[in-house]
This record gives sequence, structure tokens and C-alpha cells, in this order.
Amino acid sequence: MPMKFPQIGIFRENEQHMHFLEYRLNRLNLKEIKHSIVGAMANINPDDISLVVSFGKQAWHRLQPDWTPASLEDFMTLYGQQSHIAPSTQADVFFWIQGINMGVVFDQAMQIHNNMQVVAELTLEQQGFDYHHSMDLTGFEDGTANPETEALKREAAVIPKGQVGEGGSLVLSQKWVHDLAKWNAVPVRCQEGIIGRTKDENLELEGNAMPDDSHISRTDLDMDGVAMKMYRRSAPFGTVQEKGLLFLAFACELKRFTSQLESMYGLTEDKKIDQLINYSKAVSGSYWFAPAIDDLQEMLR
Ligand code: HEM
Repeated sequence: MPMKFPQIGIFRENEQHMHFLEYRLNRLNLKEIKHSIVGAMANINPDDISLVVSFGKQAWHRLQPDWTPASLEDFMTLYGQQSHIAPSTQADVFFWIQGINMGVVFDQAMQIHNNMQVVAELTLEQQGFDYHHSMDLTGFEDGTANPETEALKREAAVIPKGQVGEGGSLVLSQKWVHDLAKWNAVPVRCQEGIIGRTKDENLELEGNAMPDDSHISRTDLDMDGVAMKMYRRSAPFGTVQEKGLLFLAFACELKRFTSQLESMYGLTEDKKIDQLINYSKAVSGSYWFAPAIDDLQEMLR
């Protein structure tokens, strides 16, 4: 049997507009829930829009009681060093819309909401956009160290053949709110030490120049000789009042997320925190399962 296909939107890069919607189910009737999800996804023109649908552990277990990927868990609030907290806002269904036209993306968000509001409560809504070609609002390019080739992206992001959930992905979504006034008051040399890369040239700091509490040092991890690679698809968001990053990443196992978060929040032996969390604060957090296309269709049947 060939490997099952991941949802294609996961790998669709270079879109300009994103819309994220998270829902908590409030109806027990599975038929009604499936009907709403089918309606939310109906009549998509793949030239205009890509939509990735993911499920929290409890919801997936209800909708597909026969199997759940081995490592899928609910996101639990992390209590880090120096009073830093990564809160859990675990919900049930997560829609990620991308497209090049904001109007079309908006129409899709409305279609999803009109269907989902019948069976669920909206717990998070966030629009996102591409900021100056993959830049974060901190002024640093985001996504540089993502796996480079299609094959490496899949290796990092997709549950391998033969495992429960093959062709699907574990997903982390976290809304981060930046304190840009505080960040912009930091001299560029120091910002570079916090991220672990140069700002202009986007080069990784080397040797002694790389602080062990930089964002790169805290996230570029190996465990038992395995690089904890993930595939990041985050999007900046902003109004003049609130600005940040909707962190979104896909992985073949949940450990890749938990090990990096624990390292960022000082829940490791050295108890060092990622300096970046002094300038940006996580205000949401959920783990999801994005099933392979076949498994999604099978479940909705
Ligand atoms: C405020 C939130 C965040 C911001 C602004 C941010 C920004 C960045 C930037 C600018 C880079 C360097 C360029 C690149 O390789 O992409 C980076 C790298 C990275 N980030 Fe983040 N990030 C955030 C949160 C997170 C979280 C929550 C995780 C993991 C759970 C994470 C995992 C990574 C990884 C794995 C890398 C690449 C490390 C390597 O060089 O191998 N980031 N991030």
C-alpha cells in the first residue's frame, strides 16, 4: 500500500494571508458535528485557498474511536522558570486557511464559522499575513532553519508509514503576543544574541558568539542522537494595538514540541530560559492531529 497523503496545505508556502480558527465542540451528536465540518470544507477551489483541518485528542477520539496516533496528547500549561507560563487553551477543532487574496480567505473563514457555530464555540480567531517575505515582526527572518527539501520537510512533519496515523502530523499552535516597544529598545547586537542569528544577513552566530540562552540554542535540539526537527509555518499578525506571531508547527511526534518548549521555559537541568520569552508571551496553546486526507475523508463519511 502506498503512503497516505498529508493535507496539501501543510506544505503550501508563499501564501500572503492566513486565518486561524479554533473551536470547542458543544454538541455530542457526532452526525451533526461531521455535517458541520463537511459544510465548513465544502466547495473549496484549491487554486485560491488551502485549508488544513486538525483535531484535539478528545475530539479525534470521539470522531474516530478506532485509533489515535500514539503520541497525541492535550497541551498542558507549562509553568517555567522566572514565572513564565505557556498556557493551555486546548480546544477540539482547528482550521488553518491560507490564500493569496484576503477577501477569498475571509469568505472561507465565514463559511467555516457559519457551519461550526451550530455545534461549537469559537475559542480563538486570528488573522495572519506574510510580513516582508517571511519576516517576524521582531525584524528577523522566520523559518530559515526549516528542513530544506520536500523530502526532509515530510520526514520532519509527517507520521511515517506503518505507524498509527501515517501520513498525518502532530501540530502545535500557540499565539504569541510581542512587546515590540521593549524589543525595539534593545540594541541590534543584543537582539541578535537573543535570537542567535544576525539581523541583516540572517547568519547563525558561531562559537562563543552564540549565547546558550538564545532562541536558537534553546530550540536546535538533539535527543538520543535524533535531531528534534519540525516544520514551522508560523504567521505574524498585528494591529496597531496587538502584535505577535501565530506559531504553527508540524512534526512526526509530539516529543519534538515538548522538548523544545521545556528547553525554552527552563524546565531542563540547566534551568536556563530562552531570552526571547522576555519579549513575547504565549497566550494560547493547543496540540492537534492533522490526519492524512484519506483518513479525514473516511472519518467524515
Ligand atoms: C514569539 C515566538 C517565536 C518567534 C518570534 C520565533 C522566531 C524565530 C526566529 C527568528 C528563528 C530564526 C530563523 C529560523 O530558523 O527560523 C527561529 C528559529 C527556530 N524556532 Fe522560533 N520563534 C518563536 C517561537 C518558537 C517556538 C514556540 C518554538 C518551538 C516550540 C520554536 C522553534 C524554533 C526552531 C526549531 C527554530 C530553528 C532552530 C535551528 O536553527 O535549528 N520557535 N524562531
